[in-house]
Amino acid sequence: MYFDAKKSKVGRNAPCPCGSGLKFKKCCLNIGDAGPPDQKGIDEIYLAKYNIRLKSADDIAAIRKAGRLVVDTLDRVEAMIGPGVTTEQINAFVHRHTIENGAAPAPLNYRGFPKSCCVSVNEVICHGIPGERVLADGDIVNVDVTSILDGYFADANKTFFVGSPSENARRIVATALESLRVGISMARPGNTVGDIGWAIQNYAEGRGCSVVREFVGHGVGLAFHEAPQIPHYGNRGEGIALAPGMVFTIEPMINLGKKDLRILKDKWTAVTSDGSLSAQFEQTVLVTENGYESMTPF
Ligand code: MF3
Ligand code: CO
Ligand code: CO
Repeated sequence: MYFDAKKSKVGRNAPCPCGSGLKFKKCCLNIGDAGPPDQKGIDEIYLAKYNIRLKSADDIAAIRKAGRLVVDTLDRVEAMIGPGVTTEQINAFVHRHTIENGAAPAPLNYRGFPKSCCVSVNEVICHGIPGERVLADGDIVNVDVTSILDGYFADANKTFFVGSPSENARRIVATALESLRVGISMARPGNTVGDIGWAIQNYAEGRGCSVVREFVGHGVGLAFHEAPQIPHYGNRGEGIALAPGMVFTIEPMINLGKKDLRILKDKWTAVTSDGSLSAQFEQTVLVTENGYESMTPF
């Protein structure tokens, strides 16, 4: 449907009402009778302006396949978790299962990361390095898995209870999961990156929790970390307009206490500076014509 820009009261920086995903001023505002750009035009604009590679139907099919392996791996990790299991045992399983399925674990040797997945316990926010730590009853543990299958990347994580959770553990894990859900629900053409962050921040802070600022979601699929960045905080209507074919992660890290973090001497492990519990859930999400499709559904 052709949209008559001249009759509209849409703001210049708002997403274009034609549904292209572009800002109004970059789309129908100035193009008169030419109509909105076709898919090739949108692909070129997103690449030139934002360095975002919109995914083709073939790309999407391949990312979906990688995503199925990631979710299957996380399901099997969940089944093996319990008191007495070491974080290295989780890593060893993720490594073996990934390889056995013809894929490669993206974290291994990524910028010097020494293991095949991240395992983050209690006050560890993210990027925990698997090792000799033994999981104990009452712990919460996040496992973050990224697989490369046929050259395509999918990235997801979940936080699990070890044995019986405390009230605080239940609270932070439930808040982190719902933070992901409210963020994902904003993924559609006509919304912006800022809408996702706003929804997450509004929800998590409304529950008395805090949102980590130093780590963000990211474009993914053709590489581990692509443009754009997806902050888990922000303002409605701000940032890049979402367009069909964008594939990115949403992965809010939510703290029970303050938002601040510090990095341990291993240069990877991020922990809450106040020692409070932190939880995270992550999915890889595709923006479609009408909304979204998760490439890593759970
Ligand atoms: N999987 C993480 C993410 O969600 C990144 C881990 S980087 C690593 O972006 F090197 F620690 F694996
Ligand atoms: Co990620
Ligand atoms: Co991840």
